[in-house]
Amino acid sequence: MPDKESQSLSESDIIDEVQSMFSAGQGTISKTMSWFSYLLAKNQDWQEKCRAEVTEVCGSDGEILSDDILKLKILSRCLKETLRLYPVGSFVGRVLTSDMTFKNPYHPPQTITLDKGTSVAIHFYALHHHPDFWESPEVFDPDRFTPERSKGRSPFAYLPFSGGSRNCLGQNFAFNQIKVTFGHILRRFRLRLPPGKENIKMEPGITLAPHNGVFVKVEKI
Ligand code: HEM
Repeated sequence: MPDKESQSLSESDIIDEVQSMFSAGQGTISKTMSWFSYLLAKNQDWQEKCRAEVTEVCGSDGEILSDDILKLKILSRCLKETLRLYPVGSFVGRVLTSDMTFKNPYHPPQTITLDKGTSVAIHFYALHHHPDFWESPEVFDPDRFTPERSKGRSPFAYLPFSGGSRNCLGQNFAFNQIKVTFGHILRRFRLRLPPGKENIKMEPGITLAPHNGVFVKVEKI
């Protein structure tokens, strides 16, 4: 927090901020990249579509510029779908600032009220796999994020970066970093799953990691 009198950051404030950026940022990005490699290796058809798009938009070599990033729509949809299936920030905690009443799903029309001050956990993983919001929720289907198919879906059904006033500050940065990295990878390499590594267990913790990591064969194209 800035010093109240001078409104400036001290050296230790700056160190704190940089540490938050690295811990909130790079752990989440690296785990998302692991899940993304896994899903692209598992879904060769989507990997080919992404590669064709990257080559068409950015050419087969050279830099990937910020204008190009916006044009990589298929890659974006695949990344969104990765964050739906494996939201690395899989839950958040909140303290209610007012009483909250909602329908009791097990005994309608009864309601349940939680008192102000109650600690609640909001589970994004459960939300992203809920059949009320997602058709065939376990299927990797990036086209569920086309504008047509997104129409009518609540913005609160998909919260990989949380929602409200404390949502993720780094979400655009994360998207851009991952898209540029995979743009470069896909132009040069084909990702495949080695036999026996088709299914991965999750390791839930503060972030949702692949248990024992991801095994992907990287073949030069
Ligand atoms: C795929 C990558 C990322 C995911 C999935 C992710 C996810 C999240 C989530 C779910 C929250 C909300 C926590 C809450 O509501 O209590 C959050 C907060 C935050 N994220 Fe990210 N994040 C990612 C990348 C980044 C990056 C790259 C940065 C910084 C460069 C960053 C900085 C932050 C900060 C500072 C907050 C706290 C915001 C606040 O409390 O006001 N995140 N992130």
